[in-house]
Amino acid sequence: MTLTFAAMQPAHLAGAVRLSADVGWPHRKEDWRLVLGISHGFVALQEGEVVATALATPFGNAAMVNMVIVDAPLRGMGVARAMMERVMAAADPASWHLVATDAGLPLYEAFGFRRTGKIIRYQGLVADVRPSGDACWGSTADLAAIIRLDRAACGMDRASMYSALSNEARLAVLRRSGGIAGHAFVRDFGLGRVIGPVVAASADEAQDLISFIMSEHSGACLRVDTRSDTGLGAWLEQSGLSADTAGGIVMQAGTVISGPAGPVSVFALASQALG
Ligand SMILES: CC(C)(COP(=O)(O)OP(=O)(O)OC[C@H]1O[C@@H](n2cnc3c(N)ncnc32)[C@H](O)[C@@H]1OP(=O)(O)O)[C@@H](O)C(=O)NCCC(=O)NCCS
Repeated sequence: MTLTFAAMQPAHLAGAVRLSADVGWPHRKEDWRLVLGISHGFVALQEGEVVATALATPFGNAAMVNMVIVDAPLRGMGVARAMMERVMAAADPASWHLVATDAGLPLYEAFGFRRTGKIIRYQGLVADVRPSGDACWGSTADLAAIIRLDRAACGMDRASMYSALSNEARLAVLRRSGGIAGHAFVRDFGLGRVIGPVVAASADEAQDLISFIMSEHSGACLRVDTRSDTGLGAWLEQSGLSADTAGGIVMQAGTVISGPAGPVSVFALASQALG
């Protein structure tokens, strides 16, 4: 096995899509491009073919590891370990975060990651849902306030992610006299659309945001990735979505960020890659 390692470039995206499709992930080239655009990416190449990927996305004093895939015939030979060493040398944050599959768990534990939560993926054809509150569509003028709200919710500076999302997602907001009190994005992803990130002060307000978006997507294929402890699961199922076995394990290494210090929290992920 002769592998070369290289920085991931847009020219590698077609090979990356093949790898993710092989493991049953729905990412389109556009979905990969969004993550790569705000990340340090690495590939392993065998005779010019992309046979492994791994990315690190810096978010201020934190960073996410994501899109770690090794082509099936090359597994169990230390390729993922070699990719992780490159990825974790590309940034020096106080804390590392990721959402792991069961297959990735032993690899990440070997790099000092510990479980801190569980993500459940809900998806399906959305029922005829009525908006439960007073959410409305926002605009790019709201972006600075939204980035501040997100930082209060997750403790990370995800301005780069929000800036990338704003190019291709629609934004719903809850407006209060004090400004923006919650927000949710919806965008194309895989074969359907994903709602997230959703940041709000309570599960009720998260539902106000999500139900507003659902009301405009009757019958569409929607996906929501939420932590198992947000309390949204039963309501998402009533809205037509089903819990999928392919959830994720939330893991952190380094200084552990233990939940929101402010009045808001993250009720749904932008994606399992970006948290
Ligand atoms: C998870 C995955 C990336 C591991 O790739 P790999 O190249 O086989 O992993 P490595 O050979 O580098 O193993 C690295 C370490 O992980 C552990 N590990 C990896 N696969 C393991 C398995 N199936 N069982 C137990 N331990 C395993 C080992 O402890 C190994 O440590 P060692 O080097 O001390 O032996 C690969 O199985 C894969 O692509 N899976 C599908 C996509 C996926 O789920 N990615 C994770 C996304 S979060």
